[in-house]
Amino acid sequence: MSIRKRTTKIVAKRHDLNYFKRMSRVRAWQWWLAAVALAAAGLWFGTTTLLRGGTLLSAGPMSSSHAVFGERCELCHVPVVAATRWTPALGMRRHVPDSACLSCHVAEPHHPAESTLHPRCSSCHEEHVGATHLAATRDAGCTQCHAHLETRDGVVRVAREVSSFAGNHPEFRLLRTATESERSAATALVFNHAEHLKAGLKGVSGPVTLACSNCHAATLGADGRQGDGMQPVKFATSCQSCHSLEFDRHVTAQAPHDTPEKVHAFVVASLTEFARQHPEVVAAEIRSWPQQPPLPGVAAMAAPRNAQQWLQASVFRAETILWRERCGLCHKSDQRLPVNGGLPVYQTVTQPAKWMPGAVFRHPAHRAVACEDCHTQALTATGEHAVLMPTIATCRRCHDGHSSPQGPALANGHAESGCFLCHSYHGPETAALTVKGLALAKLARR
Ligand code: HEC
Ligand code: HEC
Ligand code: HEC
Ligand code: HEC
Ligand code: HEC
Ligand code: HEC
Ligand code: HEC
Ligand code: HEC
Ligand code: HEC
Ligand code: HEC
Repeated sequence: MSIRKRTTKIVAKRHDLNYFKRMSRVRAWQWWLAAVALAAAGLWFGTTTLLRGGTLLSAGPMSSSHAVFGERCELCHVPVVAATRWTPALGMRRHVPDSACLSCHVAEPHHPAESTLHPRCSSCHEEHVGATHLAATRDAGCTQCHAHLETRDGVVRVAREVSSFAGNHPEFRLLRTATESERSAATALVFNHAEHLKAGLKGVSGPVTLACSNCHAATLGADGRQGDGMQPVKFATSCQSCHSLEFDRHVTAQAPHDTPEKVHAFVVASLTEFARQHPEVVAAEIRSWPQQPPLPGVAAMAAPRNAQQWLQASVFRAETILWRERCGLCHKSDQRLPVNGGLPVYQTVTQPAKWMPGAVFRHPAHRAVACEDCHTQALTATGEHAVLMPTIATCRRCHDGHSSPQGPALANGHAESGCFLCHSYHGPETAALTVKGLALAKLARR
């Protein structure tokens, strides 16, 4: 039996030393396949990135508002080489200039004249994070200025350091600065909430306990649903049942709730009519003018001697009651009330629809919260002109900073606290931000 020796020489002979010099069928195929794959990849990359806009490079899902045209990257990412008549646009810039946003939007920055910084749109509106609400911006967008506010003229008219609502946000201006007299001037009405909300208030037919809803009703929004604020309180529906405008025991009708001129005309007309219909009552009263207790501060009137004087005396007496005890209960006057037949001038009633103009507030979002949980002073304040507006501490019970825009879902009992929730950034002049004459269907088409 011969033993085959496994020498290195024999082993080396097994290799074909010319292998790489010859082109076998298999090798030719390998070459071809590699070349085709490379060309396909190149073509694919070229078309998607350069021509279509490069979905592949996308940094993340578009916000829902922009999703319709999200694949047309070039609308925001300005091409490196602009398209010409003959060639397509090439490449795309990573950064989005404000001018790209402004080609569709009108968006004035706020306080441009006072601001020292000019932040870019994308410093607040983050794209590619799949935001369902692109306007839900992070506080950092605001605090880049408001954490330490500087203005061009060096004067800061608002709190200088505001970096979070739950942290150093100042108490609302109204509660910080409004004095009782400013508060009273706000409506020019005399009214005491706590007094009227006491249980067992004297009503027309026995004791009643009033609720906020007896006087306050929500406004109606444009869409017919509950609006943001409260309607002005109306005398006719909320006060008159207890505070009637009767003015003479002979006349059952009440004075109209109107200007003193109209009230005067009504009083004169109704007493004249009474005298015409009941001359016997007038004659009897002329014979013995009823001695009524003199009104405080008013000289007792001489007894009338004829029908003409009866009318005058009756009007005077009715109006003295009206101007002082009826209208004067609720309406304030800067002047002394007229003593001899003149008409009073009351301050004009205003019930502001907005008490905190610097912020947004919506009652409907807080339907689940009791009125007095926020307007705590309504039940307790003894002064007529207490500010009933909630303090910032009230809001912080829920808007407590435990959530952030576009962050995790809110835990129970914690409401969003981002600046954008309560404030707008783009001034009122740009309240209606418009997408300039662009058909969405056209945008989405590529
Ligand atoms: C509505 C405008 C808009 C559109 C459309 C858009 N982007 Fe963006 N993209 C932005 C903004 C804003 C940024 C932030 C860049 C900046 O700071 O300027 C950004 C950033 C990027 C970045 C860089 C991310 C990073 O981390 O720096 C990439 C990559 C990108 N976009 C890819 C795309 C691609 C691919 C498309 C098309 C499928 C696209 N974008 C469409 C607005 C847009
Ligand atoms: C090609 C036009 C176009 C461009 C470019 C564009 N947008 Fe928009 N944007 C839209 C349209 C359309 C909507 C949806 C409007 C609507 O629903 O009424 C929208 C909505 C928005 C909204 C409101 C969405 C919300 O959720 O509240 C914001 C904020 C916004 N865009 C910011 C930007 C910013 C910032 C840029 C630049 C990075 C930009 N847009 C670029 C067309 C555009
Ligand atoms: C570029 C700097 C800058 C940025 C960013 C900025 N602000 Fe302001 N803000 C100002 C200036 C300046 C004033 C006016 C201060 C003054 O007149 O003394 C102001 C005033 C305000 C006021 C009080 C007066 C008013 O207009 O009602 C509020 C509230 C406010 N900003 C909220 C915000 C919110 C919320 C954001 C983020 C969405 C924001 N700001 C982002 C500069 C900025
Ligand atoms: C839950 C609602 C809410 C949030 C969140 C909120 N604010 Fe306010 N902010 C208000 C109200 C209400 C006022 C008072 C407005 C008024 O008096 O007209 C106010 C007033 C201000 C003022 C004026 C202060 C002054 O000197 O009177 C500034 C500045 C301000 N906010 C900035 C911010 C910033 C920045 C953020 C985010 C860090 C923020 N706010 C978050 C409700 C809010
Ligand atoms: C009998 C009618 C009546 C009832 C009941 C009533 N209000 Fe009023 N409320 C008024 C009148 C009138 C005004 C406007 C005059 C004024 O400002 O004092 C007013 C004004 C207000 C204001 C704005 C003025 C401010 O000072 O802030 C608030 C807030 C308010 N009411 C809350 C309440 C709440 C909360 C309740 C229930 C707990 C309530 N009201 C019950 C009649 C009423
Ligand atoms: C349910 C009955 C009732 C209603 C409704 C009512 N009031 Fe009164 N009001 C009273 C009673 C009772 C007093 C206490 C009278 C007294 O002390 O002689 C009073 C007192 C007043 C006073 C005198 C000030 C004070 O505190 O003594 C004013 C002003 C006043 N009401 C305004 C109003 C206004 C404004 C409305 C409608 C928004 C209204 N009231 C609705 C029952 C009512
Ligand atoms: C019980 C309280 C009360 C009495 C009494 C009362 N008013 Fe009023 N008055 C109101 C309230 C509340 C308003 C605002 C809402 C409205 O128009 O009903 C008002 C509004 C008015 C207005 C329109 C607003 C303005 O100032 O331009 C006039 C005018 C007016 N009253 C005149 C009178 C006259 C005149 C009398 C007496 C005849 C009178 N009122 C009696 C509560 C009262
Ligand atoms: C979550 C707190 C909260 C609750 C709950 C609440 N309010 Fe208010 N209310 C406010 C704030 C904040 C304002 C100031 C809004 C502004 O003018 O900017 C206000 C304003 C008002 C005003 C003044 C007029 C107006 O529309 O601005 C009246 C009246 C009023 N509230 C009555 C009520 C009544 C009635 C209820 C119960 C149905 C109620 N509120 C529940 C916070 C609250
Ligand atoms: C008892 C908890 C609670 C209190 C107290 C409270 N909020 Fe809210 N607030 C919420 C909740 C929950 C939402 C979200 C409601 C929704 O839109 O579904 C909200 C929403 C809001 C919004 C956005 C409304 C919208 O529709 O966009 C504003 C602005 C706001 N709150 C301001 C305030 C202010 C100012 C105060 C203090 C006067 C306050 N809140 C007190 C729970 C509260
Ligand atoms: C300092 C932060 C900040 C900057 C910078 C900023 N925005 Fe906004 N933007 C907001 C906030 C907060 C809102 C939501 C409140 C509002 O409407 O003002 C908003 C709302 C919008 C809306 C939607 C309004 C609506 O009615 O739904 C558009 C569109 C918008 N911004 C476009 C822009 C454009 C374009 C730029 C750049 C020129 C820009 N924003 C710069 C903070 C900012």
